[in-house]
Amino acid sequence: MKILGISGSNRKNEISGTYKLVKETLEATGCEYELVSLRGKCINGCIACLGCVKDNVCVINDGMESMRDLIVEADAYVIGAPNYYTMLNGVTHCFLERFYQFRHQEGDTLWGKLAIAVGVGGVQGQICCEQIERFLAYNFIETVDVVSGQGAACCYTCGYGETCKVGGVVMMHGEGYKITKENIPDVAKCPKTLEAARNAGRLLGERLRNDHDRQKVTQKMQQFMMEKFKEST
Ligand SMILES: Cc1cc2nc3c(=O)[nH]c(=O)nc-3n(C[C@H](O)[C@H](O)[C@H](O)COP(=O)(O)O)c2cc1C
Repeated sequence: MKILGISGSNRKNEISGTYKLVKETLEATGCEYELVSLRGKCINGCIACLGCVKDNVCVINDGMESMRDLIVEADAYVIGAPNYYTMLNGVTHCFLERFYQFRHQEGDTLWGKLAIAVGVGGVQGQICCEQIERFLAYNFIETVDVVSGQGAACCYTCGYGETCKVGGVVMMHGEGYKITKENIPDVAKCPKTLEAARNAGRLLGERLRNDHDRQKVTQKMQQFMMEKFKEST
């Protein structure tokens, strides 16, 4: 069993809440894993050229090319993204858009696989979990759990955080708030968040080792998506 971990943060791994939470989750699975950061990768959005419809292989030549085999070979995914403007950040959105290449005709390469969605925001990460889950469902991938946490908004370290009128620090705590090393949010200092990551990782590991029947998961997800489509028409 091999799990592919993705950290969609643009920040260095040492300071990224997303990277830390994805790693914590992966460790708890007890499975072999590879963790890839999208930081510095040039991955563009889908351009709807339909170059992938015949064989489910994207024809765009960019950072996504080297990711394809990793995606195909993995039995499950732990995908994490930071919250930018109450959405997935750009590179994670582009990365997930490009899963379109797997969706055509009998392209069942990813059907019935399992995943965990991880979201980190200066205020909240839950919205990213929901968006990742939705993307994955289009390939009949079941998200078995989600993990969200509060990371450090850049405003804590930009140098103007205590006074900037549009910044996260003033928005959350009001004017006059003093930033100290101790009060900068960090998922690694939050036992509840770390515990949620470990629980999610353990659950994914158990599902993979015990009762993972891809055909059953596929049927369940197919049903789920059909209902979603009907609801939205
Ligand atoms: C361009 C930009 C927009 C952001 N917008 C939001 C937001 O709308 N809501 C939020 O909770 N955090 C927002 N943040 C804060 C990040 O989500 C936060 O810094 C998080 O820790 C980033 O994840 P990382 O530590 O893995 O890089 C924003 C950060 C940037 C750079």
